[in-house]
Amino acid sequence: MTDSATPTGSAPEGADPEALRQRALAALLTARERTALLTDSVDDQELTAQHSPLMSPLVWDLAHIGNQEELWLLRAVAGREAMRPEIDGLYDAFEHPRATRPSLPLLAPAEARTYAAEVRGRALDVLDGAALDGGGPLVRSGFAFGMIAQHEQQHDETMLITHQLRSGTAVLSAPVPPAATDAGGLAAEVLVPGGPFTMGTSTEPWALDNERPAHVRDVPGFFIDTTPVTCGAYQAFIEDGGYTERRWWEPGGWEMVREHELTAPLFWHRDADRWLRRRFGVTEEVPANEPVLHVSWYEADAYARWAGRRLPTEAEWEKTARHDPASGRSRRYPWGDEDPSPELANLGQRHLRPAPAGAYPQGQSPCGARQLMGDVWEWTSSDFLPHPGFSPFPYREYSEVFFGPDHKVLRGGSFAVDPVACRGTFRNWDLPVRRQIFSGFRTARDL
Ligand code: AVJ
Ligand code: FE
Repeated sequence: MTDSATPTGSAPEGADPEALRQRALAALLTARERTALLTDSVDDQELTAQHSPLMSPLVWDLAHIGNQEELWLLRAVAGREAMRPEIDGLYDAFEHPRATRPSLPLLAPAEARTYAAEVRGRALDVLDGAALDGGGPLVRSGFAFGMIAQHEQQHDETMLITHQLRSGTAVLSAPVPPAATDAGGLAAEVLVPGGPFTMGTSTEPWALDNERPAHVRDVPGFFIDTTPVTCGAYQAFIEDGGYTERRWWEPGGWEMVREHELTAPLFWHRDADRWLRRRFGVTEEVPANEPVLHVSWYEADAYARWAGRRLPTEAEWEKTARHDPASGRSRRYPWGDEDPSPELANLGQRHLRPAPAGAYPQGQSPCGARQLMGDVWEWTSSDFLPHPGFSPFPYREYSEVFFGPDHKVLRGGSFAVDPVACRGTFRNWDLPVRRQIFSGFRTARDL
């Protein structure tokens, strides 16, 4: 399936309702397995503790996952009564900012697990009986089920961030990602010729509101890095005094550097002549060839300026990832229209780190850029704004209330993102000071 803003686009992918039902079921089960792993790997005390003021206690995420599923799949789709109306407020992200969540009368771990499991049992019955080929836009093509699977996976990424922020010994481990066997022969940057391309989607059944609709953007030609910026390249910026020279920084970034006395990415520290990092409870040497992780937008922007380059715009990033010059169409992923697999991208928390820069040759885009999907979220220069023709669906608080100059867009997904919540059109956003997220970047320049 491809997106085209002209009326020649192909039929919506997965129009077969039984295939979509199976897909929704698999996505919900995969998400719950991940949630269980993240919440069963620590004891009750750690589940209810706040590991960072930036994050909720894990037990809040767990019950919030269940509560959102109840709201959308049981109440909105199936018209059921609230199971526990008294808890809705506790798990409304807008009523209680993260820092205040530990002081709420939250469900205890055992209650939260039981609640989420009861909701799930009923939701699977609803899925069984849902008419996915008709009905309203919530049920059609299984949208609400896909949205809820994506929501749970988004919180699974959030919970993995909480795991990274917790102190103490390691409780999670995973095999190392594949090597970058032909990386030595790669050009540093690739050319994306100028011209229009189709941004966003009107055909992807589970695309969220902010990815819609498909529309044409004219993007002048540019060069973009073949891979995300590595730790080794970033170290050169540090060693050149990057954090001590005001001229590389936006005013807000310089303020952040001074106030918090920043000298390196989050979780890095200096040990005599080398950089070490803490990663899920283990201290290890910073790998020079791995994409840099845990940098804020301000740090990415400063690095790019120091390197004589700039961050790509969001439209440039999407054109790099989706535009196929051979057909003139925008595809679902850099490699084409087929779903992600372990040979194509580092996704789904299979590896608890990015793969070395240049890995996943089969996943490269037509212009030769690699690792656009997975590994690290990539900061773009763009503010989080609606696509032309945007309309909020099914709730304003997912995207619309965040539009504006405060939030910068990240694209592509990290190693912590599940394939269900990752597409060439998927948009993430955060404040430019945030760096606990699995964020990196690549740079670009004009022709
Ligand atoms: C899209 C990752 C910014 O975590 O704040 C979860 C996703 N929205 N629950 C977030 C989300 C509601 C959202 N991000
Ligand atoms: Fe949420």
